[in-house]
Amino acid sequence: MNTKKVYIETYGCQMNVADTEVVLSVLDKAGYTPTTILDDADLAFMNTCAIRENAEEKVWNRLNHWKGLKRRKPEMVMGLLGCMAEHLRKDLLQSKDNIIDLVVGPDEYRKLPALVEATRDSGESGIAVKLSRTETYDDILPFRAEGISAFISVMRGCDKFCTFCVVPFTRGRERSRTLASIADECMQLEQQGFKEITLLGQNVNSYLDEGKDFSDLLAACAKAVPNIRIRYTTSHPQDFDQKLTDTMQNYANICKYIHLPLQSGSDRILKLMNRTYTRKHYMSIIEMIKKSMPEAALSTDIIVGFCSETLEDHLQTMEVMREVEYEGAYMFNYSPRPNTKAFDTLPDDVPLVEKTRRLNQIINMQNKIAEQKNLMEIGSEHTVLVEGRSKKNESEWKGRTDSNKMVIFPRIDAEVGEYRRVKILRSNSATLFGELIDVKESKHISRTSQDRGEVIYDLTPLVISSVSEHEHSGVDQPAAMLPIISSVF
Ligand code: 5AD
Ligand code: SF4
Repeated sequence: MNTKKVYIETYGCQMNVADTEVVLSVLDKAGYTPTTILDDADLAFMNTCAIRENAEEKVWNRLNHWKGLKRRKPEMVMGLLGCMAEHLRKDLLQSKDNIIDLVVGPDEYRKLPALVEATRDSGESGIAVKLSRTETYDDILPFRAEGISAFISVMRGCDKFCTFCVVPFTRGRERSRTLASIADECMQLEQQGFKEITLLGQNVNSYLDEGKDFSDLLAACAKAVPNIRIRYTTSHPQDFDQKLTDTMQNYANICKYIHLPLQSGSDRILKLMNRTYTRKHYMSIIEMIKKSMPEAALSTDIIVGFCSETLEDHLQTMEVMREVEYEGAYMFNYSPRPNTKAFDTLPDDVPLVEKTRRLNQIINMQNKIAEQKNLMEIGSEHTVLVEGRSKKNESEWKGRTDSNKMVIFPRIDAEVGEYRRVKILRSNSATLFGELIDVKESKHISRTSQDRGEVIYDLTPLVISSVSEHEHSGVDQPAAMLPIISSVF
């Protein structure tokens, strides 16, 4: 039997995490077992991100580290997958002392076993970077580590062409998986013991399968696994509609949490970004969400220092952030990306020091908003999915509220994978701290009106960082599954 081992390092967003699981599944069928020890691997990949320059820099730095290993183990096949593979193509094979044997883009993963074989046989490097209009890996069941939280990628690619963004070039045109196969996968995940599922896509609101839109998909998944929390990300404001909020309201197991990237509060900048909405339109969606789902938690993405952004534009972004009062925000300096329209046609004319000043300003403001909102949580009660031990303190559990807010509580009388009631006793800008208030014997933990209505804003845990490589994070893998005792909702 072939007992070859594959090691994969994943960078970037949750889509990449989900893609890594597809790659592991494809390679599993070819006889490769995953390993977490690089030195033990016969085959090593980095699944890469190209969204900002610093994401690429991390991979280049890591490649330097891999160089020594390649010298010691020249037979090890090393490759780059994902967005950088698509973006840089041949450059990658011709650089860094040629330690890279394979460069494979996001739509070519089915070819991996053949490419690896060919590289081994010939000693030649291989490249496969064609983008597809149809590939969704619909029939491939991802190879998932045991855990309580799973991602399902429901669509691939993006047709929005925001002028700053490389994704339409690295991931190609939008295409959706079938609704039936996604709902089936939800049921399989439930059987495997997963307790939370996140539906992923670059712009999930564009999902379409034979007339069924994203709201239909969300409803189908919520119905298929009523005891499992369903989350989704990411939305584009242009396609966000009331049908979606109505659907979220109709199912208790759909988390009342919406990530709605704003990017900028200035209409002039939004136009230059080709975001296809105005500040007024964006605010009308926020009002609709707050009215129809007052308990919903909101988060966003902001880019500062985009081409020609003035102080006045920047202040408008801050105004919107203050008005909306997001629970969390991912905030970034604009990073010009080759191939994009902004890179080709608009000068990157806000100096780095000014970008960073503006970035720090919004980070500080957002942290204060989050801190205030978290203070309001003291005394409230939440159903928390227990994820594992707190990293900082072994004697405490960490878990998340429906609104994705991290809660820390003493490690007594609870197990990973349970949904438990927790009362919040104190907070800081990123985390809530509480105590268990239900009894273990209770087999059914239902969400109360306090969870759904009285607490106006559940606070999200999106700790804000301009340097995080895990945008839209969640890459933090949960601890191994332990037996589940409670049912939810
Ligand atoms: N520079 C900075 N941030 C970017 N994003 C996408 N492209 C860029 C870029 N060139 C941000 C956007 C997007 C998030 C995933 O990454 O805010 O919503
Ligand atoms: Fe990029 Fe815009 Fe598509 Fe998001 S919607 S992936 S920012 S092009």
